[in-house]
Amino acid sequence: MKSPFRILFVCLGNICRSPSAENVMRHLVSEENATGEIEIDSAGTAGWHIGKSPDARMTAAAEKKGFTMKGQARQVKAADFAAFDLILAMDQSNYDDLIDVMSGCPTPTAKLKLFCDFCTAHDETEVPDPYYGGPEGFDYVIELLEDGCGNLLKQIRDGEFK
Ligand code: 4NP
Repeated sequence: MKSPFRILFVCLGNICRSPSAENVMRHLVSEENATGEIEIDSAGTAGWHIGKSPDARMTAAAEKKGFTMKGQARQVKAADFAAFDLILAMDQSNYDDLIDVMSGCPTPTAKLKLFCDFCTAHDETEVPDPYYGGPEGFDYVIELLEDGCGNLLKQIRDGEFK
């Protein structure tokens, strides 16, 4: 594995799904004492919430499951394509927006994937946007993220990413 291996999680606003993915992954990486080997960040395709803390409903759902939420929203930028080894979009629309942001970069799709490529416990292709729904949507995001981040970490450990 390239060390440090750098992962960027991306959603729309960077206040719900991607900061949760960042903090869940950080938690799992720290539990495995791999903090120096894997670097994690998150960003949004939109700039609406730049500088804001994660959404309070998302933070509540994460904390119920023992994950601490930290960070301030930022917008994704073309330079992220060079800075990160793996870029994981939460949904197809985030993925499509990332292709636009990264246009002009060499082979942008090589390091760009959908987060749910790593989810096995639920039959989902996208992490659903919880923003306009009730608390159960935020709980479900955490469930998907725990599953996908756990599988991602195992794949990194197993040498899937050289
Ligand atoms: P996120 O959720 O992309 O998971 O951070 C959203 C946050 C804000 C909005 C939409 C989705 N918004 O419309 O402001």
